[in-house]
Amino acid sequence: MNKANVKPASGKLGVLVVGLGAVTTTFMTGVLMTRKGLAKPVGSMTQYDKMRVNDNGVDKYLKYNEIVPITDLKDIVFGAWDVYPANAYESAINAEVLKEKDIEPVKDELVKIVPMKAAFDHNYAKRLDGDNIMTGKTRWEMVEQLREDIRNFKKENGVERVVVLWAASTEVYVPVDEKCHYTLDALEAAMKADDKEHIAPSMCYAYAALTEGAPFIMGAPNTTVDIPAMWELAEKTKMPIAGKDFKTGQTLVKSGFAPIIGTRCLGLSGWFSTNILGNRDGLVLDEPANFRTKEVSKLSTLESILVPEEQPDLYGADHGTHTGYYHKVRINYYPPRNDNKEGWDNIDIFGWMGYPMQIKINFLCRDSILAAPLCLDLVLLSDLAARAGRYGIQRWLSFYLKSPMHDYTKDEVPVNNLYQQYTMLKNAIREMGGYPADEKID
Ligand SMILES: NC(=O)c1ccc[n+]([C@@H]2O[C@H](COP(=O)([O-])OP(=O)(O)OC[C@H]3O[C@@H](n4cnc5c(N)ncnc54)[C@H](O)[C@@H]3O)[C@@H](O)[C@H]2O)c1
Repeated sequence: MNKANVKPASGKLGVLVVGLGAVTTTFMTGVLMTRKGLAKPVGSMTQYDKMRVNDNGVDKYLKYNEIVPITDLKDIVFGAWDVYPANAYESAINAEVLKEKDIEPVKDELVKIVPMKAAFDHNYAKRLDGDNIMTGKTRWEMVEQLREDIRNFKKENGVERVVVLWAASTEVYVPVDEKCHYTLDALEAAMKADDKEHIAPSMCYAYAALTEGAPFIMGAPNTTVDIPAMWELAEKTKMPIAGKDFKTGQTLVKSGFAPIIGTRCLGLSGWFSTNILGNRDGLVLDEPANFRTKEVSKLSTLESILVPEEQPDLYGADHGTHTGYYHKVRINYYPPRNDNKEGWDNIDIFGWMGYPMQIKINFLCRDSILAAPLCLDLVLLSDLAARAGRYGIQRWLSFYLKSPMHDYTKDEVPVNNLYQQYTMLKNAIREMGGYPADEKID
């Protein structure tokens, strides 16, 4: 540990979440239950994973917190904003992800997490009608209010550092606009002009977080920090940003499975993914403009792993007007399943001399159970990055994200292959810990 060139994780870490829904209440409840020794943080790499480091020629397998200083779970203090006034306990019960027996032991702590008023615009999520919102505020006033919220939260809770995590509903798709989103000056001008079309509420949260010295993580597929103006702000404030869209179920499987097709040089003619989902996330995504944001994110995964231009014989199938393999993603709102999403993948591949074959994957998952450990890891690793002096886009966190951020203005290509992402993650931690990079397979 003494090799690490990182400030220590001293004092308390404030975790401010935007959206006190299924994912975040499952995350908070799990952390609080783990702290009491009543649950295990299964799925969290910061709590379990070990990696090889080479210490003066000797290979050792160490946990992350033995390599770099990672905030202890007992030092986390939660806060939140939400459109609905329900506290974290009520919201966890309403979400019906966890059984009451897994919530009750930490009820006292959860009821104290009362959401602050949301920076919200109904046009960005039409299916939501809560009234715990800032009223009559321009975009710039939203930013100022959120900054004050962060400062007050820090003061009232005696926390030394804050990380802001967006795990609120997916907003409608905001295409990147060169005029408003390419420079910080233009972004600020648009906020001050109350340009509601180009400035999503999520951008106000990100702007406020970065300006208050807090890393910002985008867990939904929103474009929020995926614009050059926010990269500029992150550089200016020296804060890390990560996003976008937690890679939990179907896309995790996709980014782990696609490399099998790629490394074996098999052909792909089509990949059809569909889901049924019945929670509030599914309800919001039932609105076509909100689904569009998700679709763009989910579709991007395969394109950089199996690239038609690089292997036209294998991935360049021509289906009439469509060049390249046919990739389709669907999400269907189906209330009876609530948070227990079911995903189906049908993969049409071909082999020797073009003979066709099919692979079917049926994943019966639990959305928030898969997302909660990602929230924890992203929060702890973003805080680590800030203490290590890393700022701007954190590409090494791509491992956790469906549509990893990259500098598209310089034609940078995102890394979507799960195994390459894992290597990037480990090497960043090794580097922060003062150990050499390592490309060997574990
Ligand atoms: N669970 C997964 O596997 C997974 C994977 C990838 C991404 N996500 C994303 O995570 C997000 C959260 O998912 P969930 O299942 O917890 O949804 P949810 O609907 O249960 O919770 C979202 C909460 O955000 C609140 N909200 C919406 N806009 C807000 C705003 N402007 N300010 C403050 N609060 C706001 C809503 O009122 C709601 O309570 C969604 O965007 C979802 O697409 C989830």
